[in-house]
Amino acid sequence: MVSHGSEFVVVANRLPVDRVVGEDGTASWRRSPGGLVSAIAPVMRRRHGTWIGWAGAPDEELEPFEDDGMSLWPVMQTAQDVELYYEGFSNATLWPLYHDVVAPPVYSREMWDAYVRVNERFADAAAEVAAERAVVWVQDYQLQLVPAMLRRRRPDLRIGFFLHIPFPPLELFWQLPWRRQILEGLLGADLVGFQLPGAAANFVRLCRRLLDARHFRQDVLWEERVVRARSFPISVDVGELKSLIAQPTVRERAEEIRADLGAPTILLGVDRLDYTKGIAQRLQAFGELFEDGHLKPGQAVFVQIATPSRERVEQYQLLRDQIEQQVGRINGDYGELGFPVVHYLHTSYDRAELAALYLAADVMVVTPLRDGMNLVAKEYVACRDDLRGALVLSEFAGAAAELKRAFQVNPYDIDGLKSTMLAAMNADPAEQARRMRAMRKRVLEHDVDRWAHDFLSALEQPQRVG
Ligand code: ADP
Ligand code: F6P
Repeated sequence: MVSHGSEFVVVANRLPVDRVVGEDGTASWRRSPGGLVSAIAPVMRRRHGTWIGWAGAPDEELEPFEDDGMSLWPVMQTAQDVELYYEGFSNATLWPLYHDVVAPPVYSREMWDAYVRVNERFADAAAEVAAERAVVWVQDYQLQLVPAMLRRRRPDLRIGFFLHIPFPPLELFWQLPWRRQILEGLLGADLVGFQLPGAAANFVRLCRRLLDARHFRQDVLWEERVVRARSFPISVDVGELKSLIAQPTVRERAEEIRADLGAPTILLGVDRLDYTKGIAQRLQAFGELFEDGHLKPGQAVFVQIATPSRERVEQYQLLRDQIEQQVGRINGDYGELGFPVVHYLHTSYDRAELAALYLAADVMVVTPLRDGMNLVAKEYVACRDDLRGALVLSEFAGAAAELKRAFQVNPYDIDGLKSTMLAAMNADPAEQARRMRAMRKRVLEHDVDRWAHDFLSALEQPQRVG
């Protein structure tokens, strides 16, 4: 039973499941997209807290309910909130600004007002659900005002915040007309977590320069409290992936995929269809390998799985057109009857199918222009217990700091991308195994349970400077 008085509360923009209503009017639940859900859902299943979030459709007032061992507490968003807070300030302002302005951020006062309004609603829900002195863990860039709003309502709570995406350097963050308010919102937390140490350092530097806040190393003194800024690189549910790849049906499906594709080398991309993911760059490099004669049709195929994402935001619509045109052109130039060189699937798959794809792929290509972590890279490594396969990984993914033995690449450098993809395809099995073993050691030892444990034990430590 979902109840008030939860000792552990997660607050995220989305619930782990989206409510979808079919053409016949029947409603069902589908796993929500993205890395946040992949990481937090297993933690919640094990800790039995309450998850506050939006059910993914506008104007729906839903009662709290249970799903897959989790207590879920829906927060309503009107169609206008979705447009201005979610698609607007979250995904047309903060998302591009925090990802190196790879697309131009939109600065709109109307969107900002909606961001404040919806953050208040989430803070109200958390204040209602949390037990006396409970731990409340607020997630990601959509809810950066919630920590301070919640502290005003419930000073008894222990409040943590984790940012899943990059936190930009001062030179970029300074553009934001509401820069002070965002920092003050985050400083409502006892512990502010980031993916990388550099992001925590950016935050502390901004607090000093913008708010004139005193700090000692990574501890900021604010309103007579100590706010700690630390890095906690997020990870994957190794246990879940291990049990998936142990299933004979998953192994058989991987063989079937290889047989169906009928090519000696399979390259794979798995992403939300997002302009930060560098999908166009990797496809361009792949196409040019045929153009230059390094690859011949029949030698290699590229499978690009692209989950539909934020489809009403203009930059995402432009990206979809661009990628679909590019796929069409490459297949038009180099495909043969019944044998396209790029298989592009604009859809979302279940975990077993994804695991089978990881097992089938010779080369996993992960080339974001900027990414907080990138769980796909770690999922691939966690699945390759055969020590085969090669990972091409952007230097601009947070995961590059840990997966040093990946074939690392600057995705803006198309020639570099081509030679790195070729090197990964041609690496001999001993070399692949050496690299994979080192990467697996890191991922297996630092899985999502360890990440959550590290964050939550830091949050529960008494506040002391230093
Ligand atoms: P982001 O959070 O930006 O989407 P991540 O790589 O960190 O990026 O996380 C993406 C998560 O979504 C991973 O757990 C991945 O397995 C999952 N995912 C990505 N694409 C698909 C897809 N087409 N179908 C199902 N799951 C997907
Ligand atoms: O951290 C990346 C992230 O934005 C998460 O906050 C979110 O759950 C996921 O990607 C998917 O995005 P959206 O909720 O906008 O579909």
